[in-house]
Amino acid sequence: MEKYTKRIMITGGAGFIGSHVVRRFVTHYPAYLLINVDKLTYAGNLENLIDIENNPNYVFEKADVVDKKAMDELFLKYKITDVIHLAAESHVDRSIEGPMEFVFTNVVGTVTLLETARKHWVDKEPHVFYHVSTDEVFGSLEEEGFFTEQTPYDPRSPYSASKASSDHFVRAYFHTYQLPIKLSNCSNNYGSHHFPEKLIPLMITNILNEKPLPIYGNGLNIRDWLWVEDHASAIDVIFHNGKVGESYNVGGLNEWTNISLVHYLCQLMDEKLGRPAGSSAKLITYIADRAGHDQRYAIDAHKLDEELAWKPSITFEEGLSKTIDWYLDNTEWIKKVTSGDYQNYYTKQYHNR
Ligand code: NAD
Ligand code: TYD
Repeated sequence: MEKYTKRIMITGGAGFIGSHVVRRFVTHYPAYLLINVDKLTYAGNLENLIDIENNPNYVFEKADVVDKKAMDELFLKYKITDVIHLAAESHVDRSIEGPMEFVFTNVVGTVTLLETARKHWVDKEPHVFYHVSTDEVFGSLEEEGFFTEQTPYDPRSPYSASKASSDHFVRAYFHTYQLPIKLSNCSNNYGSHHFPEKLIPLMITNILNEKPLPIYGNGLNIRDWLWVEDHASAIDVIFHNGKVGESYNVGGLNEWTNISLVHYLCQLMDEKLGRPAGSSAKLITYIADRAGHDQRYAIDAHKLDEELAWKPSITFEEGLSKTIDWYLDNTEWIKKVTSGDYQNYYTKQYHNR
């Protein structure tokens, strides 16, 4: 175990962003051992990591971050030196349907990990507890302005309230116990392996299957989109070079109204699928608005750029085109992750190998 210079627990590594973070660390840092700790909810799929699962510096452990005993055992088993915490319930609509799961995983799970780290990291070695969070904790913007690291928290959905709560606990552990924390708040991500319940992957799969494209309310809500691999590179930079006790906003200055984004997706997919121009846009269907729908998110990422020289690597046009191509090439993945018994099936296959 000690032959690895760091033994990093990455929680939620089988999810959308987590799988990109795991892949990046496994391939960029052969001297580190990466321990992917994931409960494998509907959103966690080991198939997301099939290309790296046999790498010698990667291991998977199925566990719930709320389970104190399991976290304790994993810290002991792997002599965990660092944590990158991504495990969460992540979908706003699900949080409106049922907030409690969000409280358990996002709040109790985060505090359980903080407690475990506090108990085990009593040596003089350097450690990092990196908490990955969202810009949704800052609330909703009107037409002007951006979220900075100084923007007061004002969460409005059960999801963002649970993430805000976890962020507060992370900072409290720094101030109270000097736990070496780092934190980032990122805008909406898009890219491959995104579960088809969030806007972009849902629209891509529905266009593909010629199903209605549901637009909440008037479609004029604004989101600021960042390619998931650029988020993973920001996490890498902050994990290694960010200041302990500080937070960093991550975003790519890329605001779109939902309706203009969906029109753009329709146009790109008509071209890629060889369908007549305008045919996918006919699937657009306005439906009732989301309760408490935040109007606009927009991130000011100057601190990350100026202090740590991070910038997004590709344009939205390039990223969206790559993303659509990935979904068109991976229709089996879509079928598997959206089929009810997939989770049990794949978990069994993985453990019986
Ligand atoms: P996701 O829903 O795709 O993945 C979450 C992962 O966490 C899944 O693999 C799931 O199985 C796992 N998980 C859930 N509950 C667990 C538990 N109790 N114990 C262990 N594992 C559990 O989410 P995502 O979109 O990849 O988001 C990852 C993190 O990044 C979250 O903390 C989220 O708040 C944050 N974030 C997401 C976005 C975004 O646009 N998706 C933007 C900013 C920040
Ligand atoms: P989503 O991908 O759920 O991310 P978040 O709510 O965390 O920003 O939604 C992005 C935007 O798209 C949000 O304004 C809600 C809207 N939306 C729709 O209009 N239709 C949909 O089917 C979904 C899933 C989202």
